[in-house]
Amino acid sequence: MKTLVRTLPVFVIALAAASAAWAQEPKVDFVRDIEPIFQASCIKCHGLNPRDPHHHPAARLRLDDRVAAFKGGRSGKVIIPGDARRSLLYRLLNGPVPRPKKAAGLDSDKDIAAMPKAKRGQKWKPLPAREVALIKAWINQGAVWPASVKTIPAKAWHARRKTAKETSAD
Ligand code: HEC
Repeated sequence: MKTLVRTLPVFVIALAAASAAWAQEPKVDFVRDIEPIFQASCIKCHGLNPRDPHHHPAARLRLDDRVAAFKGGRSGKVIIPGDARRSLLYRLLNGPVPRPKKAAGLDSDKDIAAMPKAKRGQKWKPLPAREVALIKAWINQGAVWPASVKTIPAKAWHARRKTAKETSAD
């Protein structure tokens, strides 16, 4: 009982701190916050090429399709809902990650390159900190990706966005 009396306040304080941190983290919305990042920075490599049905997305990972994205890529699952720190998709936004043995093969002695992948001979340019934080929060909040969202090839998405902006400016 004595220990309970002593540890209970600590527990209550920890709980309060945790809920305060939770409250500070804005609720992420896939369509508003995440899809635009994937479209602007990832899908040109991690999507299907509508003009070439035999084209493989980089590392066999698609970020333009919910079911395919959760299946993952060459290294296995890349999104672990509720756990950004274990999610390869989030980890690679902070720097290269040692390649899992399972995926050994091509380039197996090298780390998996940081994302978004730099062009050959160029230095890696990380996403803006705000976008990295949004992706982290999105995964930690359960990686909600509504089944109704039909993601389309990056080019078509940008065109649609541009028209939407033009019409709303009228
Ligand atoms: C210029 C092309 C390109 C862009 C842009 C790009 N990637 Fe990649 N991505 C790759 C390549 C190539 C690999 C394989 C790298 C390796 O194995 O070293 C890869 C690997 C990955 C992997 C590991 C997949 C696996 O199973 O091993 C993840 C996760 C990933 N990318 C996420 C992203 C995210 C998120 C973005 C956008 C922020 C992004 N990528 C942007 C080309 C790209």
